[in-house]
Amino acid sequence: MSKTTSPWQTIAASKALAPGEFLEFRLQEKAQEPAGMPLTGFVFLDGNAPRAYLNVCPHLGIELNWMPGRFMDSDNLFIQCSTHGALFKPGTGECIAGPCQGDSLTALDVRLRGSDIQVRVPG
Ligand code: FES
Repeated sequence: MSKTTSPWQTIAASKALAPGEFLEFRLQEKAQEPAGMPLTGFVFLDGNAPRAYLNVCPHLGIELNWMPGRFMDSDNLFIQCSTHGALFKPGTGECIAGPCQGDSLTALDVRLRGSDIQVRVPG
């Protein structure tokens, strides 16, 4: 069975995304496990380009952050899971340290449309 790409969803105004800021959002899609849980994600600027991931740590499948909008480690170099400290490269989502090393965050498609930021779950 082939997976279908979800429709684009507007999650914020592009002017809301300042360098160094992380915006969290809720997707229309629901998680498969646990079934029906809302999927959440976050978007930030990687250089000039917006980049978005599901807010799901590949280790235990839970959200990465415990403080709203706080995703980076203390050196501001890597995205960090607040539960066991896994570190992820912001540009690729690859886990480079921690219990899920070699695994990756799930990247979302992201685009700017007019004054909106839109994301979708890739198929
Ligand atoms: S839940 Fe993220 S590192 Fe364990």
